[in-house]
Amino acid sequence: MAILLTWRALIFLILLAGGGQASDNTVMCKLVKENQSERKVLSLLEPLTNQNFTGVTTSGEEYYTYVFQVCGDADGIKEAGVVQKSKTGKQVLVGNYSLTQAIGGSGWVMLIYNGGEKYDGHCSGEHRSAIVMISCNRTTAAGEFSVVLENRDRGLDCFYLFKMDSSAVCPVISSKLSTGSILLIVGFSCLAVYLIGGFLYQRVVVGAKGVEQFPNYAFWSEIGNLTADGCDFVCRSRGSRDEPPTYRGIATEPLEEPEERDDHLLPM
Ligand SMILES: *[C@@H]1O[C@H](CO)[C@@H](O)[C@H](O)[C@H]1NC(C)=O
Ligand SMILES: *[C@@H]1O[C@H](CO)[C@@H](O)[C@H](O)[C@H]1NC(C)=O
Ligand SMILES: *[C@@H]1O[C@H](CO)[C@@H](O)[C@H](O)[C@H]1NC(C)=O
Ligand SMILES: *[C@@H]1O[C@H](CO)[C@@H](O)[C@H](O)[C@H]1NC(C)=O
Repeated sequence: MAILLTWRALIFLILLAGGGQASDNTVMCKLVKENQSERKVLSLLEPLTNQNFTGVTTSGEEYYTYVFQVCGDADGIKEAGVVQKSKTGKQVLVGNYSLTQAIGGSGWVMLIYNGGEKYDGHCSGEHRSAIVMISCNRTTAAGEFSVVLENRDRGLDCFYLFKMDSSAVCPVISSKLSTGSILLIVGFSCLAVYLIGGFLYQRVVVGAKGVEQFPNYAFWSEIGNLTADGCDFVCRSRGSRDEPPTYRGIATEPLEEPEERDDHLLPM
């Protein structure tokens, strides 16, 4: 148990040390309106960059594959955040990552790519846009990318909605453990290992009994005595250390005669 705890703490420390993000691919996304808080939300998606995610939808005869990338060229098309591919292989740009919006909450990020190819007959011929809802799921780094709906039967503000699970957007719980408490955990684990290991060593290898089983018993009892002496020296008034010898002599003398006491106990 203690050893397990120590390892966990060590791994945690290593993760903390290596926690800094090495890559910075989300800067490829241009925000519609540059905003620091939106940038911060976007940077959460860093672990999802440099990958094509694909999702398929079928409705009747229609069959579409959607390719999604975080701030990178989806399906190899320049500035495409989301691309729609028909079964004939025709590609349609659904969202442009140079027109990005990012909204985030606790455990989710909504990524919006605007400025896609214009609709022909629907939605007043406006630009297509894609909304990708990324939700926290601690069990997966990047879950399945799936199509929720294609909303194009509205007069205006049509959009394609996608969803995906990822641990990247999960709220950080580990930050509740401060460095101080981590050090405390490591310290106590080491102490536990020392005590248990030392105890077993003294008992099994050395064959000690009783209090002698405690590791380095002599050393620790010496420390204890020294501490007591130190306390005595510091806390006690000077006079009591130089007690008159007569007082000590009285204290060490037996208080009662054993025979006297025995006489009382005899039945008369
Ligand atoms: C950035 O966007 C957020 C939310 O959309 C808003 O509350 C905030 O005022 C914006 N900040 C700037 C500097 O525009
Ligand atoms: C994404 O897909 C395109 C087309 O298949 C490919 O050229 C590109 O290398 C892929 N990108 C990544 C990061 O896998
Ligand atoms: C994406 O948006 C940017 C900024 O509006 C524009 O300059 C660029 O041409 C667009 N790219 C595509 C492929 O539509
Ligand atoms: C999280 O992801 C796992 C594996 O992808 C899945 O089995 C599980 O249902 C997901 N959990 C939630 C709450 O969506």
